[in-house]
Amino acid sequence: MKLNPSKETRITGQETEIQQYGTVVNRPLSLDHKVRLANVESLNQILADTMTLRDLYKKHHWQVSGPTFYQIHLLFDKHYGEQAAIVDALAERIQTLGGVAIAMAHDVAETTRIARPPRGREDVTVQLFRLLQAHELIIDGTRQAARAAAANGDDGTNDLLVSDVLRANEFQVWFISEQLAGAGIAGKDEEAARSVAEPRA
Ligand SMILES: [Fe+2]
Repeated sequence: MKLNPSKETRITGQETEIQQYGTVVNRPLSLDHKVRLANVESLNQILADTMTLRDLYKKHHWQVSGPTFYQIHLLFDKHYGEQAAIVDALAERIQTLGGVAIAMAHDVAETTRIARPPRGREDVTVQLFRLLQAHELIIDGTRQAARAAAANGDDGTNDLLVSDVLRANEFQVWFISEQLAGAGIAGKDEEAARSVAEPRA
């Protein structure tokens, strides 16, 4: 096999696909095609948002600064690892339902609802607010998707969303929120929240 194939033989795009994104193949799961299609779509949105939150944790793990550097540096990486496990569980649930899991950064960037952060470093308070905002968006979407999955009979998806995604996100919100409870931070809250709430154009 040639490592640098000529232009004529280079693999480029859709002509190589064996299943298109946004479709579901049949599985003997006793779940209608319509149900699996709807739940795969919800799961892919949560997956794209979770991949973005996972990467936001790594960005903040690397770029954090200040007197609490060491403990927050470690906390951010712990949460990164937990979000990476959720990403795998969501993607594999999508494949289990016969769908196609979103995977690459380009596609995730086009799909996620989480505001794009700047490339540069931000103050730790802004980092924490940005994470809380991303968590809340995922929590809200996960509750809605979990209820829909329970209503349409997909108990497996409901269980994954409630037991693994929702509870882990709620737990991480506790740890991140408590970082903001220290003296002297309250005055900065509004300013930090405002700067996170206004995504860059
Ligand atoms: Fe590291």
